[in-house]
Amino acid sequence: MLVMRARPGVVTVLFLLLTLPAHGQGRRVPSAGTPHLLIYHWWSSSSEQAALNALIDRFRARQPGVAVTAQNIPGGGGAAKLFPIVKARVGAGKAPGAFQMHAGYGAQIFFEAGLLSPIDDLWADNKLEDVMPALIQDLSKLDGHYYSVPINVHRINVVWYHKALLDRHRIDPRTLTTWDAFFGAADTLKEQGVAAPIQMGEGWTATMVFQSIVASQGMDVYEDWVNGKMRKADDPRMREALRIFGRYLTYVNEDHAKTGWDVAVKRIIRGESAFYAMGDWADGEFRLAGLVHDRDYGTLPVPGTSAMYGVTIDSFQHPRGAENPSLARRWLALVSSREGQDAFNPLKGSISARTDADIERYDAYQRSAIAAFKSAKWIFPSVDLAVPDAYRVQLNEIIPAFAGDRDSDKAASLLAATTSRLSPKFTRVWSLTPVQRQPEGDKGPRAKGGKGV
Ligand code: GAL
Repeated sequence: MLVMRARPGVVTVLFLLLTLPAHGQGRRVPSAGTPHLLIYHWWSSSSEQAALNALIDRFRARQPGVAVTAQNIPGGGGAAKLFPIVKARVGAGKAPGAFQMHAGYGAQIFFEAGLLSPIDDLWADNKLEDVMPALIQDLSKLDGHYYSVPINVHRINVVWYHKALLDRHRIDPRTLTTWDAFFGAADTLKEQGVAAPIQMGEGWTATMVFQSIVASQGMDVYEDWVNGKMRKADDPRMREALRIFGRYLTYVNEDHAKTGWDVAVKRIIRGESAFYAMGDWADGEFRLAGLVHDRDYGTLPVPGTSAMYGVTIDSFQHPRGAENPSLARRWLALVSSREGQDAFNPLKGSISARTDADIERYDAYQRSAIAAFKSAKWIFPSVDLAVPDAYRVQLNEIIPAFAGDRDSDKAASLLAATTSRLSPKFTRVWSLTPVQRQPEGDKGPRAKGGKGV
C-alpha cells in the first residue's frame, strides 16, 4: 500500500528543558525506588481519559507496585509539542516508556531524528502479525521495521446526528448520501429555526471535514492530494472541494473557531444542532452521556464516502533509551493485546486494531463500524497518517483560515504553493486501490499494491 523512497529528512529541533508541565490525568509522583513507567499522550476529553484509565488499570493489575505517570500534552494530533520533549529526554537518557502518536507519517520525524528504537521482536513474540490486518502492519512500519504498536482504528468520515431532531423535521438520514441531499436537509432545518444545523469546531476539526470532502470527490482525487500531486492553484478538483466546504460552512455554528471538538459533540448530544462530521472518538462522548446508537443518535458516512473507511490509527511509539525498558515493553505488550485493546476501545469509540476482538464488549455504533471496516471498498489513511507532518501543520492553518474568510482563491493558492514547497517531504507513495480481501483464513483487509515501507 505504501512505498517509501529513500530521502533522509533533516529535522531541526529546539532543545527544551526536561522540566515537564505538571498537568495531566493519571499523574503520579513516584517515590524513590518505585518502578516507574512514564507515557505521553494527548487525550483530554472525558471519554478519552476514561479509555486511557481503563488501560492503565489493566497495566497496574498486571504490574502491582509499579507507578504510572500518564502525562497529558493537550493540543492533539501531532508532533509539534511532543517532539522537543521526547528529543530532550532521549538526549538526556531519560526517555519515556512510550508515547502516543499516529501511525504512518505521524512518527516519521521522530524516526528521522533517531529517537525511536525498533520492536520487531515484540511484534514476533506477541504474534501480532497473526492478528493485525496487513494494512495496519504496513502503517506501523518505518523503513521496513516496527517502532510502535497500534491501539485502535478510528473512522474519520462519519456524520453524527441527533435522532429526535431529524425525526421532528421529517428528515430521513438514510437519504443523505449526496452533498445536495445533505445541504437540502440543512436548509430544511434552517428554515424551521435551527440556527446552526451543523456543528464544527476549531483548527484541525475543520481539516477533518475538509479531508472527507476531498475523499467524497473520489479516491483518485484523495490519492493525488496525499501524494502531494495537486500543485496548481486552479486544479478543478481542489476548487470543487473548496466550493463544497464553502457551502458547508454556511450551516455551521458562528463560534466554530473557538469550539473544542468535544464541546461541539455535546451540542449534538443536547439536540441544539443536528449534524457533526467528526472522527468516531465522538462515540465515546455519546456513550459517556448515556445515549444509545440508533435510538438517541445515529451515524451516516460523510456524503459521497459510503464505500470508504477513512482511518486514523493511534499508536504507542517506542523511544530509544527508555528509562525502564522492561516496563516499557510490558506496556507495549498490553497495548497490543486483546485484553488491552478490548479495555480501551469500547470507551474510546474506536474499534480494535486486532481481528480477534471480543465484539460483545463494543457498542452498537462500534459493531456497525466493525462491519463497515470489513466490507469497505476503500480504506484510506486520514491526513494525520497520510501526509508529512510539515504539510499537515500548514493544512491546519490554511483550512481553518478558509473557514473564517471563505476566500477560496487564497486557500487554493496556499494549498498549491505549500504542496510544491514541501514536495521533497512527500516520501511515501499511496496506492488507494480497492481493498483486496483474502478468501481463506482472512487476516483482514489488504490494500492492493500493499507493501511495507
Ligand atoms: C485524534 C486521535 C484520536 C482522538 C482525537 C481527538 O488525533 O487519533 O484518538 O484523540 O484526536 O482528541
